[in-house]
Amino acid sequence: MSDAHSNDATAPRKLIIAIDGPAGAGKSTIASRLARKLGYVNLESGAMYRALALKAIDRDASFDDEAALLKLAENARIQLEPTIGGNRTLLDGRDVSARIRERDVSEGASRVSVHPKVREWMVARQREMGAGGGVVMEGRDIGTQVFPDADLKIFLDADPVVREQRRMEQHKIKGEVAANVAADLRERDRRDRTRAASPLVAAADAVVINSSSMSEDEVLGRAEQLVQEKCNR
Ligand code: DC
Repeated sequence: MSDAHSNDATAPRKLIIAIDGPAGAGKSTIASRLARKLGYVNLESGAMYRALALKAIDRDASFDDEAALLKLAENARIQLEPTIGGNRTLLDGRDVSARIRERDVSEGASRVSVHPKVREWMVARQREMGAGGGVVMEGRDIGTQVFPDADLKIFLDADPVVREQRRMEQHKIKGEVAANVAADLRERDRRDRTRAASPLVAAADAVVINSSSMSEDEVLGRAEQLVQEKCNR
């Protein structure tokens, strides 16, 4: 039996949109707002690395033990459930959406993500999730590794000081805690950019948006304009 839409030449093509960039550049907000506008699914790939880091913490596994981490990943059920209010992350059936944003998990996610075998496993799952199109997937290597043929690649960047300030405002933190968060962000950034396996870089064909002096609405507007240009081709 044929799918009613598969032969419909007038149906808009469902794009694969990759949004990469460093922590604090505003990827999550833009990806979820853009996905909502387009009626697409927003998949936050970082949540998968975070869920694995949490599993390692729960099981007392070392963030440096690649073989143990791969086994944990293979035996984990990591589900990303897009909801109106953002992504819900389930680990082995448990809602861990809030827990994976905590400091120990943030650091762990950056550390488990340096391992090539862990990345291979993640990339394979992410390709399965986004294969049908109609997806805005965000992370660090979506345009370079997961979907090198993505229809649109955006590299969302912002100056380090701006990214730190945004994090503080987002979490309403100041004083000593703020200094810790800034230091964590810098260290995570350094690790993500310098790791040997798929370091954070803009794909050669990505459109770089530096959002340092742009409002959220302006960034969204620019992203929508890029989508429109793709659809008109
Ligand atoms: O986007 P995030 O801050 O939730 O990601 C958490 C960590 O996961 C980040 O420090 C690096 C890693 N990560 C990655 O290596 N590749 C991705 N596609 C997404 C995240």
